Amino acid sequence: MAIIAPTRKDVTHPGQLKKYSWPLRLWHWLNLVVIGGSLITVLINSTITDRQPISKLVQTELQKSGVTITGQEAGSVAHSLEDNVWNVHIYFGYVLVALLLFRLLLEFFQLADQKFIRQFKSAYHQYKITKKNREAAQHEWVVKLIYTVFYLLLVIMAVTGLFLAFEDAMAPYKAIRHNVKDVHGFCMYLIIAFIVVHIAGVLLAERKDTGKGIVSDMINGGKK
Ligand code: HEM
Ligand code: HEM
Repeated sequence: MAIIAPTRKDVTHPGQLKKYSWPLRLWHWLNLVVIGGSLITVLINSTITDRQPISKLVQTELQKSGVTITGQEAGSVAHSLEDNVWNVHIYFGYVLVALLLFRLLLEFFQLADQKFIRQFKSAYHQYKITKKNREAAQHEWVVKLIYTVFYLLLVIMAVTGLFLAFEDAMAPYKAIRHNVKDVHGFCMYLIIAFIVVHIAGVLLAERKDTGKGIVSDMINGGKK
């Protein structure tokens, strides 16, 4: 007897359809590592390698060995240390941009039921049009809206980050570099806010019957 493996269009084995496809899960956890890494570089540059204390440290340490350097010289040592950390940030940034492109492509190639756009529309329909199970439908809709805002934020981070990383090529737009940097820096706070709300939401959902097991679903795929 032939064994029928579940295919992309298989509707005869709905039980074998995963809630989250493996590429989406891979994307999710890699994204966590890369955003985490990126945030750590920002944290390092605003604490351990902060220019002022490092300049002071370099000056006092050299003074112990009888070498006196100016504040400006110490500043440039601190600056290059900071730049090294920014270079790591930029590497994380390139991976994040690649992951974002991967996520966009995935949207086209996923099974219809696993597509974010389709889930978004269905949540909207359930809440605004069907008007059944209002509270649960509203929750689903709000969650999808929050994910949409997060994806938009990722696009903003990628575009502004690439602008800053390729500032030489962007020389004609030098006048707006400062604003671009401000937008990039500000959006970080929104991303942090998303992460806090998201993790709290997922943990709260785990405590409810309706959401029990969603974290393991994001690991093993779950069932549709
Ligand atoms: C969630 C992801 C990201 C976060 C939280 C983040 C955060 C930040 C922050 C807070 C700054 C400092 C801004 C300032 O000084 O006002 C910064 C600078 C920068 N970021 Fe990102 N960023 C992210 C993604 C990216 C991406 C995707 C790229 C693109 C490759 C990138 C490239 C840069 C560059 C080139 C700088 C300037 C570094 C310098 O001053 O030399 N970032 N980022
Ligand atoms: C940097 C940190 C994180 C980011 C940026 C992030 C981002 C996202 C995004 C965008 C989605 C929606 C995926 C989609 O359907 O297109 C998602 C879903 C999910 N994430 Fe995260 N996540 C992060 C951390 C975590 C952590 C630490 C956990 C576990 C404790 C987690 C558990 C989940 C689960 C269970 C879902 C599915 C929830 C649902 O169906 O609504 N995430 N995450």
